[in-house]
Amino acid sequence: MRDLPPGAPVWIDCDMGFDDLAAVLMVVAAGREIAGLSLVAGNAALPQVVSNAMAARRLFGWGFPVHAGAATALNGTQVDAGYVLGATGMPSAGRQLAPCADAPDSREAVAALAGWLDAGGRVVLALGPLTNIAQLVAARPDLAARLDLVWMGGSATTGNHTAAAEFNAFADPEAVAQVIAAGVSLRMVGLDCCRQVCVTAGDAAPLRAAPGEAAALLADLLTGYARIRDPSGAVPMALFDPVAAAVVIDPASVAFTPARLDCELSGDLTRGMTVIEWRARKSAPNALIAGRPDAAAIRTLFLTGLLAAATGESR
Ligand code: BDR
Ligand code: CA
Repeated sequence: MRDLPPGAPVWIDCDMGFDDLAAVLMVVAAGREIAGLSLVAGNAALPQVVSNAMAARRLFGWGFPVHAGAATALNGTQVDAGYVLGATGMPSAGRQLAPCADAPDSREAVAALAGWLDAGGRVVLALGPLTNIAQLVAARPDLAARLDLVWMGGSATTGNHTAAAEFNAFADPEAVAQVIAAGVSLRMVGLDCCRQVCVTAGDAAPLRAAPGEAAALLADLLTGYARIRDPSGAVPMALFDPVAAAVVIDPASVAFTPARLDCELSGDLTRGMTVIEWRARKSAPNALIAGRPDAAAIRTLFLTGLLAAATGESR
């Protein structure tokens, strides 16, 4: 498996919940060029995901293009996380991103991403179901070998959406299987890794103390996020997408182990489960699986990234 090219521009594919937004803000704050943002249904239905992204672009002054992608999984279904995250996909203790009718770039996500890869782009940070990426490698198999994909999804142990499956994997298991089969260079940042990097509502204090509407909004969103597991916000809540963003910003922030990765498609109880064979003698590794994170360093990237966005320092 190749090293990630240091400092290279990044394409982000996401389903724009709060942890996706935080991941984008971390990459911006790190000074990394974001070549484009493509959107996929996941945390919420696609129109809500687009509204969230366009509102964030307006608020934070993003200059990169935003492209709408898949509204359903490859099999035509759509699973969202509204039962946990509410209608916007971003639970809040108060303020919400304003509904936004700005139109995304007219170029569809897969075509735009293919164009960027054709022009030499490599690093793709995927933070939602892998539908857009699967459609890309189906349409352009020649591009699969060019991609360096860092994906927040899957789990080496238990799931979150179901007992066995992580949400992004469960929402489109066929997409996970097709991306794996295409031979993409893949780093999987799964639940086991992300559950070691947590926040509580108390982490919103510096944002609450900062001036301005953006700071107040991010404080409310972080508090809402921290209350997902427990209404008090005091029980540590795992960061997901920000851990994958940290891998792109600083590859040394997470330790990876090569292994054979597959995705279960058919089990009644296990659909969307990522199955990992750690024994190379049994099956040749095809992915790098995230293990121990530098939790303190990743929390710092997350909290300083939000603060920089709130105060306009990274704009
Ligand atoms: C993943 O699912 C989504 O709800 C989050 O944004 C994250 O990408 C965690 O299972
Ligand atoms: Ca996500």
